[in-house]
Amino acid sequence: MKIQRQFPWKELIKWGSAILACLGVAYLLYLNNQYEKKPVDNTPSQAQTKPTTTEPAPTPKEVQVTLPGATPIPARQEDYQADGSIWQIVNQTRGFKQPTYVPSDLQTADVPTLPGRGPEERSLRSAIMPDLKALMAAAESAGSPVRLGSGYRSYQTQVGLFNRYARQVGETQAARFSARPGYSEHQSGLALDFGSPDGRCWVDDCFKNTKAGKWLAAHAHEYGFVLRYPEGKQSIVGYQYEAWHFRYVGRELAGALHQSGLTLEEALPYLEKAQNELKQKETSS
Ligand code: DAL
Ligand code: ZN
Repeated sequence: MKIQRQFPWKELIKWGSAILACLGVAYLLYLNNQYEKKPVDNTPSQAQTKPTTTEPAPTPKEVQVTLPGATPIPARQEDYQADGSIWQIVNQTRGFKQPTYVPSDLQTADVPTLPGRGPEERSLRSAIMPDLKALMAAAESAGSPVRLGSGYRSYQTQVGLFNRYARQVGETQAARFSARPGYSEHQSGLALDFGSPDGRCWVDDCFKNTKAGKWLAAHAHEYGFVLRYPEGKQSIVGYQYEAWHFRYVGRELAGALHQSGLTLEEALPYLEKAQNELKQKETSS
């Protein structure tokens, strides 16, 4: 007997419905997942741009003064042309901003002095005393003692001195060795004339041949002092050679000037370059 089998419609509908239901649920889950996904933010967050705490903070580049042939030195954070700056250049054309300027830290120097010197010219700025004392002690130990001859001079003292020279030799000739009032380094309290203990060759060319003069020429820069009017530089510094006149600029600049062989006037462009760099740093920070 032939068995007639019917097409399994019921089975087909049952499994077809189950598959469709599964597909529907999967689609709904997919849509839900897409809706909850946040957009990807590719811009770095603040936390990412900030250095981590373990990274060292970048150190600001130090401004330096680099004289030709000399080791670079750190620039001083001050206005070099201000009255009172240790690096202020005072010469025949660059006077004090305030012509009657008086340093605020003048004091009588507690160092060996030539006899007969008044209280004013035995004064200098307290800022230079430690180095001045160190210089005089070193000269003494080396067997070439030096003496403070003439230090600070007020504007009024320079008026009297310059007028006296001008009466003696005429104003033009006087201006070759004596500064006009308001234009003398002595008024800064940072310059002084040294002498020998016996007073020989006081403010005279022959001072360069004394033991004191020779020792100063070789060693004064080690203590922050420079020979301000060297031989052969009159056209640059404005004054004839003075083997006895020294100016304090601090040990670093004095060392660099000695290494380079430049005068303060010749160093001016390099000092101004450093000063401009300092100003640029200030405005950009
Ligand atoms: N003798 C120096 C130039 C002065 O008078 O300051
Ligand atoms: Zn002098």
